[in-house]
Amino acid sequence: MQTPAVPLQHPYNTPTEPPVASRQPFGDPSVLGAMESSTKTAKTCTWWESGVIYQVYPRSFQDSNGDGVGDLEGVRKRLDYIASLGVDAVWLSPIYPSPMADFGYDVADYCDIDPMFGELAAFDALLADAHAKGLKVLLDFVPNHTSIEHPWFRESRSSRDNPKRDWYIWANAAPDGGPPNNWTSDMGGSSWEFDPTTNQFYLHAFLKEQADLNWRNPQVREAMTNVLKFWFDRGVDGFRIDVLWHCFKAENYPDNPLNPDWISTQGEKLKVFQKHSADQPEIHQLSADFRALADGYGERLLVGEICLPVPQLMTYYGTEASPGVHLPFNFQLLDAPWNAEALGKMITEYEAALPPSGWPNWVIGSHDAPRIAGRLGETQARVAAMLLLTLRGTPTLYQGDELGIGKVDIPPDRVRDPQDLRQPGLGLGRDPSRTPMAWDSCRFAGFSAAEPWLPLHGDWGMRNVAAQQGDPASMLELYRALLKLRREHEALSLGSFALLHAAGDVLIYERYQKDRLVIALNLGAEVQNIPDYGATTLLLATTGASMFSNTLAPNEGVILQRLNY
Ligand code: NOJ
Repeated sequence: MQTPAVPLQHPYNTPTEPPVASRQPFGDPSVLGAMESSTKTAKTCTWWESGVIYQVYPRSFQDSNGDGVGDLEGVRKRLDYIASLGVDAVWLSPIYPSPMADFGYDVADYCDIDPMFGELAAFDALLADAHAKGLKVLLDFVPNHTSIEHPWFRESRSSRDNPKRDWYIWANAAPDGGPPNNWTSDMGGSSWEFDPTTNQFYLHAFLKEQADLNWRNPQVREAMTNVLKFWFDRGVDGFRIDVLWHCFKAENYPDNPLNPDWISTQGEKLKVFQKHSADQPEIHQLSADFRALADGYGERLLVGEICLPVPQLMTYYGTEASPGVHLPFNFQLLDAPWNAEALGKMITEYEAALPPSGWPNWVIGSHDAPRIAGRLGETQARVAAMLLLTLRGTPTLYQGDELGIGKVDIPPDRVRDPQDLRQPGLGLGRDPSRTPMAWDSCRFAGFSAAEPWLPLHGDWGMRNVAAQQGDPASMLELYRALLKLRREHEALSLGSFALLHAAGDVLIYERYQKDRLVIALNLGAEVQNIPDYGATTLLLATTGASMFSNTLAPNEGVILQRLNY
């Protein structure tokens, strides 16, 4: 297996600054970020560079058969809603047959649909309807592990000489009879599970019901490549690749270094540094192979889930000669300190670290992360929405954030997330982000005719699509307005980025291409004066204001279009 070329850490693309004269009237002495270039135009970009992705968590989007769990027919029926937001693609979290130990991230058959969600015909109908409405469809590809109910694993565990034994990672006990090494599972405890049938341990980076595949085995590569082909041939537009950075582990499984700062309340995942159990050099050739396959089908997209610091994250773009995934997910906004200095630094450092042809991307919510409105409060979540949808790069929205769903209390008897159930009391539960969509104020919020698998958010009677639709002051209409602006202004979807001001609670940057837009965000609850940016038109304010005169109201974000530029 070939190791990748030198990891990428190039400075950003050759900047093409706007004429100096045109920068003067901004009058802000603190132009912090180098002007970043973008040569993309609507004609030369791919759909996913100018596009916006919307994540659907199918269990919680729309139930069509009254079992309290969302399904594909439900998603199909709601495609008009998704299209009405103004997004370009839908990413569906896993829909494959699964015992649902990790709600679909434990796949028992990669080439079928779980009966709970429908069948292949329902998927084909969804795909065809989505395409007819101009929406792309991305599936979730889960290469690191399968369910232990997958026939491959059943065979593998049946005997040491089974032909599929080496498809998974098996090892003998340590001399003391314990697990082969000190690797810890992200879901708590050792990442090794003893299997009495053959007296060996198998590896699982996540639940013990999710056995890690051995990607060093060429048959695994071939079988999983066939999975990708199966769905590409069916017409899917790409994949979000689950925990891509986990797929390879160091040979001979050396102990991971201990994290000296670990405290038990952090969960066992952080007990060791995952030096040998993840992010191995071999992953880059695998990414390159996935990429070559995807590109062979035309304009398809691969988004890699990679939770690593920026320098390592950048290596997943690959090299010019051997490109990796198109978009290594950039999760930094999920837990960024919410102050202008930190955000400004984070944005400029990320931009500066991108490889020459690396396209940025941003995420502000997911089925794994706390709700942004829960974290920041509703008014500041509006500012966060403006940030997400005006930064340079492909944004991914998570269902329900467009309604401003905030903190949700899950009663103890309704907790379903295995991560929470296995490490109780640490606040690791992901259920609050997975509660059902609220469509209207009917019983069960129009999500289902039956009690949903997770409770609805507390204020669903008021906070639902029907209640917000058409109300210009609502979060939903703010998202629609932001997405409309993004579509109308190439400066927002494809243009260059420059940071103008990042101090205290005020973050100001500009995006420019055919026109020039200034985005000024007040991250705090005090009124803030901002510099005079010359003649401008207010395009949108998160507060609904229709006038602007260099003063940001508390928790207000504005998009200004500079005139005479
Ligand atoms: C990341 C997924 O987003 C998460 O929900 C899942 O538990 C793990 N990968 C394991 O597949």
